[in-house]
Amino acid sequence: MPTFKQLGLALLGPSIVSAGPLNRNIAKRDGSDYKDNAVCTADQLMRNYQVHDTGLWGKDLWWQSGNFMSALATLTSLNSDYLSEHGDVFVNTYDTATGYGNYVNFLDAFYDDEGWWGNAWLDVYDVTQNQTYLDAAITIYNDIIGGLGTPCGGIWWDKNQSYVAAISNGLYIELAAGIAARVGSDQASDYLSHAVDGWNWFFSVGLVGNDSMVSDGVDKGNNCAPVGAKFTYNQGVILGAAAELYKATNNQTYLEQAAALANASSAAGSSVTDSNGILHDGCDESDNCDETAEMFKGPYMRGLRKLQLAYPHDNWKNFIITNAQSIWNNDLYFEQTDSGSVCNVGEDWAGPYNSTNEVTQGAALDALNAALAVTQ
Ligand SMILES: *[C@@H]1O[C@H](CO)[C@@H](O)[C@H](O)[C@H]1NC(C)=O
Ligand SMILES: *[C@@H]1O[C@H](CO)[C@@H](O)[C@H](O)[C@H]1NC(C)=O
Ligand SMILES: *[C@@H]1O[C@H](CO)[C@@H](O)[C@H](O)[C@H]1NC(C)=O
Ligand SMILES: *[C@@H]1O[C@H](CO)[C@@H](O)[C@H](O)[C@H]1NC(C)=O
Ligand SMILES: *[C@@H]1O[C@H](CO)[C@@H](O)[C@H](O)[C@H]1NC(C)=O
Ligand SMILES: *[C@@H]1O[C@H](CO)[C@@H](O)[C@H](O)[C@H]1NC(C)=O
Repeated sequence: MPTFKQLGLALLGPSIVSAGPLNRNIAKRDGSDYKDNAVCTADQLMRNYQVHDTGLWGKDLWWQSGNFMSALATLTSLNSDYLSEHGDVFVNTYDTATGYGNYVNFLDAFYDDEGWWGNAWLDVYDVTQNQTYLDAAITIYNDIIGGLGTPCGGIWWDKNQSYVAAISNGLYIELAAGIAARVGSDQASDYLSHAVDGWNWFFSVGLVGNDSMVSDGVDKGNNCAPVGAKFTYNQGVILGAAAELYKATNNQTYLEQAAALANASSAAGSSVTDSNGILHDGCDESDNCDETAEMFKGPYMRGLRKLQLAYPHDNWKNFIITNAQSIWNNDLYFEQTDSGSVCNVGEDWAGPYNSTNEVTQGAALDALNAALAVTQ
């Protein structure tokens, strides 16, 4: 029996910004109907928007909300109706969210948090063409480059300089290249040279192992030796960075380097997949990731989608489709209510469904977006 938390009705709370209809019905439960499934998943995410009046989702979900912005902007790019229904979300979050924690300009003490938001504003810029969002990304980038100069090279994870992490560097490279690809060519060169330097560092410092898998970070106290587990998001963000570098340079080398990584991580039985090729982090198998690790698979799918669109490979396309269908067939709690369809997706995409929250909705949305993008 589902617990109270799992009941769709319990999650059908009104959002303060009641942007657009959240009461539509999906015709049938079909794992290959990526568009309806993405919309239904996004609607359930939207029901948890602004519940604490912060311009964020859920409670205290700071950097995860940057990820949700990316996912919603991507859905909008694939389904332009979503912008007319929910486009005020971008404006509202831009205007309101920084008040939470007084994070003026989306800046806080962690360069990875900043990187999520910077890349999110680029995604929002892509669907709105509103210069404010490109400028916001540039402001964030200017703060992040203040984190350069660790004893291992690259940027710090945090302003307290405690750790050198793959994630903050991957996001920084993606952001720098992404800005270079979007500003005029007369302004691109400084962003681009930072992106290229970051990329070359990423592949030379030892973060990428001889198995083409990315470690969590390098240990500044131990000759910059690679440390930490193999998390999904570290494998994925660098793929998106490659796609942005390619966009900015037309140089296929980045795509080819990324292909080796994508092949390694997306293979069935890799350190981030099960034997059927379903993506997971270690904690997913027991459904006990926290609201940090529950997010990780989303950015993986985002990065692989970007790489696949720039450099199509059947094995990645199949991987994306297999994961999107597994979510629907094995990890969904679906309810038809008087006020519409409710699609609750869980944490372990291989199933069985256990429970949902904003983060599992947001991560799954990235997978469904990816399936929609690579099949349309
Ligand atoms: C651009 O975005 C900003 C920030 O959300 C907003 O205040 C402004 O109205 C937008 N401009 C247009 C033309 O939509
Ligand atoms: C940074 O270090 C200072 C001094 O140790 C500490 O007070 C502060 O909480 C740290 N900040 C963060 C975000 O961890
Ligand atoms: C790959 O790297 C690991 C350490 O990360 C090392 O133990 C192993 O010998 C290396 N294998 C090859 C073929 O270089
Ligand atoms: C493409 O990038 C690679 C790797 O950085 C570099 O060695 C190569 O010279 C570049 N090719 C061109 C045409 O710029
Ligand atoms: C990635 O895998 C595909 C399919 O097996 C293969 O064709 C391609 O050469 C691989 N690329 C790299 C860089 O390993
Ligand atoms: C369901 O999730 C809870 C945490 O949300 C976890 O403690 C529990 O072990 C999970 N149950 C199963 C069967 O995975």
